[in-house]
Amino acid sequence: MKYEMRIILIGYGVVGKGVTTILAQRYAEKVKDYGFNPKIVAVADIDGAVINPRGLSLEKLETLKTTRPISSDPEFGHPKMSALDVIESVEAEVVVEVTPVNIQNAEPALSHIIKAFKTGKHVVTTNKGPLALAMPTLTELAEYNNVYLRFSGTVGGGTPMLEFAKRCLAGDKILAIRGILNGTTNYILTEMSQNNVTFQDALANAQKLGYAEREPLMDIDGFDTACKVVILSNWILNRKITLRDVDRTGVRDVSLRELEEATKRGNTIKLIGSLDSDEKPSVKPTELPKNHPLCVSGVLNAITFSTEYAGEQTLVGRGAGGVETASAVLRDLLDIRHKLANKLLNSN
Ligand SMILES: NC(=O)c1ccc[n+]([C@@H]2O[C@H](COP(=O)([O-])OP(=O)(O)OC[C@H]3O[C@@H](n4cnc5c(N)ncnc54)[C@H](OP(=O)(O)O)[C@@H]3O)[C@@H](O)[C@H]2O)c1
Repeated sequence: MKYEMRIILIGYGVVGKGVTTILAQRYAEKVKDYGFNPKIVAVADIDGAVINPRGLSLEKLETLKTTRPISSDPEFGHPKMSALDVIESVEAEVVVEVTPVNIQNAEPALSHIIKAFKTGKHVVTTNKGPLALAMPTLTELAEYNNVYLRFSGTVGGGTPMLEFAKRCLAGDKILAIRGILNGTTNYILTEMSQNNVTFQDALANAQKLGYAEREPLMDIDGFDTACKVVILSNWILNRKITLRDVDRTGVRDVSLRELEEATKRGNTIKLIGSLDSDEKPSVKPTELPKNHPLCVSGVLNAITFSTEYAGEQTLVGRGAGGVETASAVLRDLLDIRHKLANKLLNSN
């Protein structure tokens, strides 16, 4: 059965462009293997939108990557049309929300997601803001509106940390979760410890290499990791918390001297997000043996699930990047497609 899925893409930055790249590269294969026929019917960014109800061609989406603003497209451009208007007025099954993160009030993503739900559209997002501030409400609202909310790119980028826990460990009981969930701070601590680089220089390098979030405080003060702890707590452990419930310490006060001392003990210091049954959810610099499975270097992320039966399971992978994170978006789209196809079968 071939299932057409009309998609509205909100945000055409690193991840948004990764989504169209990956769809272009894997389109034929996905149609053949999964009967999944995605069509991007609109792309909106901060300046306006591009809309074609019959689907924007892959060539057009490629051209839009270098068109500024995208709404200046002579064929399908709608200058000044807001993303909210696009979600309200364009017919589609799914909204892919990939605008910048904001942990003050989660906007504009929060309004985009709520508007999508209210107009009967499923949502795939990589934006941690709305989940960190309002995850329990959003999951209830999705259920109430009979739509799906998927967000696997919010934790681990392309590395399927949420799916691994939710699906592969479904037969076990997860007792605790610990992880290096932010590549920028891991890069900084690795540079400091292995190359004796100061915190400021390591941060400047991370920014030069494009690793840091637009707002580096998100990374270095541990907010990004804390958002991921919130998502893991709600989605995997079914413990309803928000950002306010996480004890958070970032890496700006970790000194070269502390790292040297740790090295002398055969250890190093990593920024660890942690959830277990006894302690308050936390993010803090933590000394770990260098041979601990979580002790990965550079921008890598790693997560350990401590389980009742299968012991400790550690997953390691790249936690960010345009196409990496876009692969998580595609995974979510396929999951929604699968769920919708099952619903259809059951109703016949
Ligand atoms: N990059 C990664 O590796 C990665 C990994 C995991 C998760 N994420 C998350 O995924 C999201 C997107 O990340 P990104 O790296 O793609 O960010 P980005 O490169 O900054 O792109 C964001 C896009 O959203 C647009 N935008 C801003 N405000 C908007 C509004 N009000 N309405 C519509 N569009 C708006 C921006 O337009 P302008 O450029 O014109 O402002 C830009 O096109 C973020 O929440 C990020 O935290 C990113």
